[in-house]
Amino acid sequence: MRTRTRLILGLAALAVFASACVSDASQDTLRPEGPYAEQIYDLFVPVFWIAVAVFVVVEGLLLFIALRHRRRKGQPASIPPQIHGNNRLEIGWTILPALILAGVAVPTVTTIFDLAREPEGNVLEVNVLAHQWWWEFDYPQEGIVTANELHIPIGRPVYVTLCAVGLGYEDQPTPSVCQPGPPDGAPPAAIGDGVIHSFWVPELAGTQDVVPGQANTLALQADRPGRYSGQCKEFCGLSHAYMKFAVVAHTPEGYADWLANQQADAAMPEPGSLSATGMDVFLNGQCIACHAVQGLEDANGNPVAANGGPDLTHFASRECFAGCWLQTKDREELAAWLDNPAAIKAGSWMPDYGLTPEEIDALVAYLEGLT
Ligand code: CUA
Repeated sequence: MRTRTRLILGLAALAVFASACVSDASQDTLRPEGPYAEQIYDLFVPVFWIAVAVFVVVEGLLLFIALRHRRRKGQPASIPPQIHGNNRLEIGWTILPALILAGVAVPTVTTIFDLAREPEGNVLEVNVLAHQWWWEFDYPQEGIVTANELHIPIGRPVYVTLCAVGLGYEDQPTPSVCQPGPPDGAPPAAIGDGVIHSFWVPELAGTQDVVPGQANTLALQADRPGRYSGQCKEFCGLSHAYMKFAVVAHTPEGYADWLANQQADAAMPEPGSLSATGMDVFLNGQCIACHAVQGLEDANGNPVAANGGPDLTHFASRECFAGCWLQTKDREELAAWLDNPAAIKAGSWMPDYGLTPEEIDALVAYLEGLT
């Protein structure tokens, strides 16, 4: 190997190793913040140490034999006598690993079944819809929908049903458990199955795939208030890496306040304000083809309902948007997003509508008011 290649490989390895020292890394499975993540952690630790012991013994013996029987200076370069077959040794190193694996399997299988069980008691049920490339959270009992941020109360189990949702433009949309469609059996408007995603909040639960045509479930719970970072961890297209989300855990009172705000209609802008102009742009432009704002009506007097895009009723109450990749409080990011979404997030299905700088200013003002 050339010296330079060696140097580059060495530095790369060092960088990977050093990244383990980051103090404020989110998405840390080794810092469980709820009972489900703790159960996984409690399984991981003993299995890890058993694996370490096996590694030390096997590598230790290997090194010992290699060093002990190495060719020494002055010895002839001949091959030593070859030994083949030792029943006792071979039976031993077959049975011992089998016993270790069987021992590890007992807590592993128990944990798998424990985690797969539907939680009982006062459970919060949320439908999680994975879009390309953002997450929608539908609370059927509470009658609210959010995007990119899953808000939960602490100390209460949350049972999520995961559905993969297409772009909303497919020819043959299929009803799913998450969005069963109208009662007459017709498919829900503009919902089609998409690609495989995977839902993961490392500090709160294990990971579960989101598969088109199938509803998977996962239980999670947070014991301390906080903001926990989540990520889609199955390659799902161009902006897979930007398909993040956050779980925001509140105290029960904080959650009740949040819920009450989410259930309210959107704030109406002051007549004549820039924000009111923004609302007009929103209503008369292309925005309402995909986005909902609860409480608004279109020119025909119909409610502005979502059609594949995130519900924006309380947009400014969220910290992040566009797959939790951009910050709602950052006016420049918001303006740049409205100007040309795909330039910021590769493959974005929100088109560049050629909005003028004035229209963008007004829309930003309107969105900022949707608290
Ligand atoms: Cu969704 Cu990766």
